[in-house]
Amino acid sequence: MTNVLLLENPHRIASEILESAGLNVRVVKGGLDENELIDALEGVQILGIRSKTEVTTKVLAHSPSLEVVGAFCIGTNQIALGTAAERGIPVFNAPYANTRSVVELAVGEIIALTRRLTVKNSMLHRGRWDKTAANAHEVRGRTLGILGYGNIGTQLSVLAEAMGMRVLFYDIEEKLALGNAEKAASMADMLSRSDVVSIHVNGNPSNKNLIGSEELALMKPGSVLVNLSRGFVVDQVALKDALDSGHLIGAAVDVFPEEPKESGDPFDSELQGMDNVILTPHIGGSTIEAQHDIGAFVAQKLIDYMALGNTSMAVNVPNLALPVTPSSAARLTFMHHNIPGVMAQLNEALASTHINVEGQGLATMGSLGYAITDVSTPLPPSVMERLKLSNANVSARCLNLQM
Ligand SMILES: NC(=O)c1ccc[n+]([C@@H]2O[C@H](COP(=O)([O-])OP(=O)(O)OC[C@H]3O[C@@H](n4cnc5c(N)ncnc54)[C@H](O)[C@@H]3O)[C@@H](O)[C@H]2O)c1
Repeated sequence: MTNVLLLENPHRIASEILESAGLNVRVVKGGLDENELIDALEGVQILGIRSKTEVTTKVLAHSPSLEVVGAFCIGTNQIALGTAAERGIPVFNAPYANTRSVVELAVGEIIALTRRLTVKNSMLHRGRWDKTAANAHEVRGRTLGILGYGNIGTQLSVLAEAMGMRVLFYDIEEKLALGNAEKAASMADMLSRSDVVSIHVNGNPSNKNLIGSEELALMKPGSVLVNLSRGFVVDQVALKDALDSGHLIGAAVDVFPEEPKESGDPFDSELQGMDNVILTPHIGGSTIEAQHDIGAFVAQKLIDYMALGNTSMAVNVPNLALPVTPSSAARLTFMHHNIPGVMAQLNEALASTHINVEGQGLATMGSLGYAITDVSTPLPPSVMERLKLSNANVSARCLNLQM
């Protein structure tokens, strides 16, 4: 029986999918500390966690039955990825499952700021009827500048154009412009021509204070800024100054240079107390739909690895998925040290037993290699024994393809 331990309560779709694949699932609501986790992992092949559980080198060293880890979240910093790779344990996450949620929040904030909704809302709550159109615009026809045209930036580009916005983008990489979006000549060009600037760059440390007082000064008077990327990308004091002076008429900020660890913790920011600023506690990707999609995506990755050896989109081992040919009876997966002669060893082990190879694939990543080989008849134990004794062996598995 294959045992699964799911910690930190991922969306229930995850356990439903894993159970329907015939796996024995144990769900624990909270996280576990290092020693509790080691105890709980006895006899467990599949571990599912979210962001709080630390899968340390010690946990991996004391969990000999563990074969694969699923991070039901986006980040994987909580896992000793290198050690997991050395032990032949792939780690999967769900990097794109919340993209749409972030984009929808950005769209909502762009409309809210362009229509001055937060200001009108605050005034009315304070008992003041301020029925004017001053500074309130339709988004149709206005220019959205997207800084960072990756997964989120490109999705936003599509939705913004559907609302009639003109899209201008700037990215340090060469990117295909979607729809009618226009590539700006430089970041300065993009900043100076946009009515709304939405930031979606990645968390590269070189992006620290990418937007400071000089860049804000380049933005159009009366424009607005949205940041749902990383807190350190925008100089918070410079942003407050630009808002105080009236140069920017609004901002939406979901990410901060310093963020509290736990929900319910106190929070402090230069930007608090301003009617024209939307502050949200890093919830860009936090929706029921994103949680559902993360649960379904990672659960399926775990099943595909256990049943077929597929590692496509694993974060720490070579990515490989081999289609199953109908004539194959068994699949041999071989995670190995990337050294000369490994494939010869593998194929000699098969040739010595006169087994026909139906399909084979190899991927490498640094010092690690991964080969999947489909064969026409069940594998004799001698092949697995030979591979496990190989100087290149990290982990070898034999999967039955005849369902
Ligand atoms: N608020 C949230 O809850 C939330 C949720 C998910 C992702 N995010 C953040 O959103 C950001 C974007 O995510 P993604 O999945 O689209 O990432 P991505 O890696 O797909 O795209 C980032 C893009 O930014 C570009 N880039 C990097 N530095 C740049 C620079 N200095 N100038 C111009 N372009 C630059 C990259 O070339 C890339 O195209 C990340 O920082 C991520 O952490 C936030």
